[in-house]
This record gives sequence, C-alpha cells and structure tokens, in this order.
Amino acid sequence: MTRRWMILTVLLMVALPSVLYGRWIKDKVYLQTDSVGKVEFSHYTHLEMESIGKNCPTCHNDVFHIVTKKNPAFTMAEMEDGKACGFCHNGKKAFNVSGDCTTCHAGDIVYINEDVGNITFPHEAHTGMFGCDECHPDIFKPERGANQVTMEDMESGESCGACHDGSMAFGVAEDCESCHEM
Ligand code: HEC
Ligand code: HEC
Ligand code: HEC
Ligand code: HEC
Ligand code: HEC
Ligand code: HEC
Repeated sequence: MTRRWMILTVLLMVALPSVLYGRWIKDKVYLQTDSVGKVEFSHYTHLEMESIGKNCPTCHNDVFHIVTKKNPAFTMAEMEDGKACGFCHNGKKAFNVSGDCTTCHAGDIVYINEDVGNITFPHEAHTGMFGCDECHPDIFKPERGANQVTMEDMESGESCGACHDGSMAFGVAEDCESCHEM
C-alpha cells in the first residue's frame, strides 16, 4: 500500500464510526452467563448518551474488547469493583450494578394465554426477596417460554407452585386473579 492510501485508510477508520455507526454497527449485543441467561446491551442507547457520545474508545478496548471472545466472563463482584459494566454503573456515572438487577437482566415476563388471560411474572417483585439462584436454573431455565407447565403441575409444587402454595406465598389453587388478568 502506498503512503497516501495508508493515510486515507486510517482517516476513514477514525471518521466512519462517528458518521455511520448507525448503519453498520450491531445495536444489540448479548453477554452470555452460565447461570442466569443472557444480558442485552444496546449500543445505540449508550451512544446516544451525552456522557459517552459516539465515542467507541470510551469502552473499546479497555473496558470491553471488540473481539468478544477476548472478554472473560465477568462476575457481578468484579463489576462492583469497577470492571465491565461497573466501569460506569457505579451509582455515580450511571445506576449501580449492585441495585436495579432487573434493568439489565430481565424485566416483566408475560405469558400469553388467550383462554385464561395473560399472566405477568414481575421479576422485580421477586428479586427483592430472593437471589437469582433460588429460581435459576433449577425451577426455571432463564429463557422466556422454556418452562411449560400446567396448573396441575404447579399445585404439586412445580414452577410458581414451589412457593405459591398458600403458606410461603398466596396459593396457585386460590386466587386466580393475583396472577391471571381475567
Ligand atoms: C458503553 C460501552 C460501549 C461503547 C461506547 C461501544 N461499545 Fe461496542 N461493545 C460494547 C459491549 C459491552 C460489547 C459486547 C462485549 C461482549 O460481548 O463481550 C460490544 C461489542 C462490540 C462489537 C462486537 C460485536 C459482536 O457481536 O461481535 C463491535 C464490532 C463493537 N462493539 C463496535 C463498537 C463501535 C464501532 C463503537 C463506536 C461507534 C462501539 N462499539 C462503542 C460496549 C460498547
Ligand atoms: C448494569 C447492568 C447490570 C446490573 C444492574 C446487574 N447486572 Fe448482573 N450481570 C450483568 C452482565 C453484563 C453480566 C454478564 C457478564 C459477563 O458474562 O461477562 C451479569 C452477570 C450476572 C450473574 C452471573 C455471574 C455471577 O456474578 O455469578 C449473576 C448471578 C448476576 N449478574 C446477578 C445480578 C444481580 C443479583 C443484580 C442486582 C443486585 C445484578 N446482576 C445487576 C449486568 C448487570
Ligand atoms: C461508558 C459508560 C457505560 C458503560 C461501560 C456501560 N453503561 Fe449502561 N449506561 C451508561 C449511562 C451513562 C446510562 C444512562 C444513565 C442512567 O440510566 O443511570 C446507562 C444506561 C443503561 C441502561 C438503561 C438504558 C435505558 O434504556 O434507559 C441499561 C439497561 C444499561 N445501561 C446496561 C448496561 C450494560 C448491560 C453494560 C455492560 C455490558 C453497560 N450498560 C455498560 C453508561 C455505561
Ligand atoms: C422467583 C423466581 C425468580 C427469581 C428470583 C429470578 N427469576 Fe429470572 N425468571 C423467572 C421466571 C418465571 C422466568 C420466565 C421463564 C419462562 O418464560 O419460562 C424468568 C426468566 C428470566 C430470564 C429470561 C428472560 C428472557 O427474556 O428470555 C432471565 C435472563 C432471567 N430470568 C434472569 C434472572 C436474574 C439475573 C435474576 C436475579 C437478579 C432472576 N432472573 C431472578 C423467575 C425468577
Ligand atoms: C402464582 C400465579 C398463578 C396463580 C395464582 C394461578 N395461575 Fe394459572 N397459570 C399461571 C402461569 C404462570 C401459567 C402459564 C404456565 C405456562 O405456560 O407454562 C398458568 C396457566 C394456566 C392455565 C393453562 C394451563 C393449564 O393448566 O391448563 C389455566 C387453565 C390456568 N392457569 C388457570 C388458573 C386458575 C383457574 C387459577 C385459580 C384457581 C390459576 N390459574 C391460578 C400462574 C398462576
Ligand atoms: C422462590 C419462590 C417464588 C416463586 C418460584 C414464585 N414466586 Fe411469586 N411471590 C413469592 C413471594 C414470597 C411473594 C410475596 C408474598 C405474597 O404476595 O404472598 C410473591 C408475589 C408474587 C406476586 C405479587 C407481586 C406483587 O407485586 O405484589 C405475583 C403476581 C407473583 N408472585 C407471581 C408469580 C408467578 C406467575 C410465578 C411463576 C412464574 C411466581 N410468582 C413464582 C415467591 C415466589
């Protein structure tokens, strides 16, 4: 390559991300965990933020390597120490990794059921009372729709019925409308 081409190529590499990121960069990327499913990260949402701008080096490659397999699987403890998402999500630059679990991990889960009405499982109401590992992966695989059961299964202690037994929490055989939108 001639020197002129080299310079042009470098200039393009610097200029392109800020001009065209919306076209060629993948918005949503997913970080896979062993125990609690995958976590969605949105490039677009972050690049819209004033404190970040369209500035790739804010994260690449010091905080996250662009070649995703070069990133170790970070634990929440490491993030609380300022690694990965915790570089900003420390309660100062952005909401804290040690709170708001469901903002990053999983919000409300809606089971669609036309016959008996949709059921909303509110993660947040539960993560205040239980650790993730009290449900995942033993009672529920952390993947939407991956745990089909009937009410009969629940009454014999599976799924929601592991806790919603009328003593630890309201029972599955009692108040249908606490879960079903009827
Ligand atoms: C706020 C932090 C942040 C900023 C800013 C950022 N990224 Fe990323 N990027 C990430 C994270 C997190 C991942 C996923 C890492 C992983 O999966 O281990 C990622 C992954 C990537 C990947 C790999 C995608 C894949 O699926 O292989 C590319 C390419 C990438 N970013 C390009 C860019 C470019 C170009 C910019 C600037 C326009 C940018 N990123 C800005 C956080 C950021
Ligand atoms: C800012 C976003 C964010 C918040 C807030 C957050 N997490 Fe995470 N969490 C992640 C990401 C991203 C990963 C995956 C990291 C990886 O695989 O490299 C992860 C991984 C995990 C893991 C698997 C790794 C480990 O440490 O065992 C658990 C469990 C977990 N989070 C629980 C929680 C709990 C509980 C909370 C609330 C106290 C929480 N997370 C809050 C982003 C977040
Ligand atoms: C370079 C700093 C930076 C890094 C690194 C970063 N974030 Fe953020 N993030 C922000 C800021 C700033 C906000 C907006 C302020 C707030 O909501 O507290 C935000 C907001 C969010 C939101 C809310 C978005 C919305 O729609 O309101 C989510 C979800 C999120 N981040 C997830 C993540 C995850 C997951 C990671 C790691 C994979 C991560 N962030 C890494 C700076 C960062
Ligand atoms: C009280 C039980 C319970 C607790 C505690 C719980 N979850 Fe879940 N989780 C569920 C249920 C139920 C589903 C839906 C499964 C289905 O659709 O079959 C789910 C689904 C998920 C999914 C898949 C979401 C999707 O869109 O595919 C993820 C990811 C997840 N949970 C992460 C977490 C994390 C991280 C924690 C801890 C911060 C946590 N969960 C705590 C019950 C729980
Ligand atoms: C703790 C929450 C909860 C309560 C209380 C509850 N359900 Fe359900 N129900 C669910 C969930 C979640 C599903 C979806 C399960 C799936 O798709 O895997 C469901 C599914 C169903 C189904 C379809 C599956 C089947 O068994 O045929 C029927 C019918 C049903 N519920 C009826 C009822 C009735 C009647 C009551 C009251 C006696 C009730 N439910 C109380 C959570 C609940
Ligand atoms: C690990 C135990 C556990 C599991 C599993 C569980 N729950 Fe709960 N849930 C509770 C407890 C405890 C409460 C609060 C006590 C009460 O309301 O009786 C609660 C409360 C709720 C509430 C009321 C929330 C509020 O805002 O007041 C709903 C709705 C609910 N659960 C739905 C479900 C559904 C649907 C499932 C299955 C997909 C499920 N839960 C699985 C323990 C659990």
